[in-house]
Amino acid sequence: MEPSGFVAELRRELDAELIKLDELPVAQPGLAPPEAVIDALRMALKSELEASDIAALWMSTTVELDAKLGLARQCGDEAKHFELIQQRLADLGAPARGWNPVAHGYSPLYHYLRTLHSTVERLAAGQFAREGIAQKRNRQFIAWLEQIGDAATARLYREIVQPEEDAHHAFADQMLHKYANTPEAQDKARQALRKTLALADELREVAVLRTGLAAIPGS
Ligand SMILES: [Fe+2]
Ligand SMILES: [Fe+2]
Repeated sequence: MEPSGFVAELRRELDAELIKLDELPVAQPGLAPPEAVIDALRMALKSELEASDIAALWMSTTVELDAKLGLARQCGDEAKHFELIQQRLADLGAPARGWNPVAHGYSPLYHYLRTLHSTVERLAAGQFAREGIAQKRNRQFIAWLEQIGDAATARLYREIVQPEEDAHHAFADQMLHKYANTPEAQDKARQALRKTLALADELREVAVLRTGLAAIPGS
């Protein structure tokens, strides 16, 4: 299959999964800000750190120069998001400096992503699927923040975090058009995308059960 047809197929699979998120209420009743926002931002810290960590890990073992540099840029963006969210938590009266979101371990999705070795499967899983989910979840998160009147957190996401998550997803789209050009590469990428969507869905369910929040930000 031509790479363009293959990427269109991946997008259809991703979109079918993202439609499921539309069925969720943006926020559960009974959760009051700022506690609910603090809970969501603490989860976001973990997502940002894992995204930065995995991009760094992959950057060092990626041979295609444009993909390597894109991963380097992403690694820095996610670290910046981490620090901006830390600052926002401090402004909300919940200082997070010194608090390590992975002190008790990384997520199952992170452990899965670490097992991927080819550039195309990494991009399909880590940037195309994971960042695609983040885009959608963050749009819901921003809508929820606006609904509850947290304009400052909404602005941070709308003006800085979200445009960069968009860029991470677009980077994967562009690289897959270039490198997903053999049946073997496409097959690996398809499997990696499916596994990532399944693991991300499990993680979201756990987070919703634990916090009662349906608008879970991603990275
Ligand atoms: Fe990202
Ligand atoms: Fe991020």
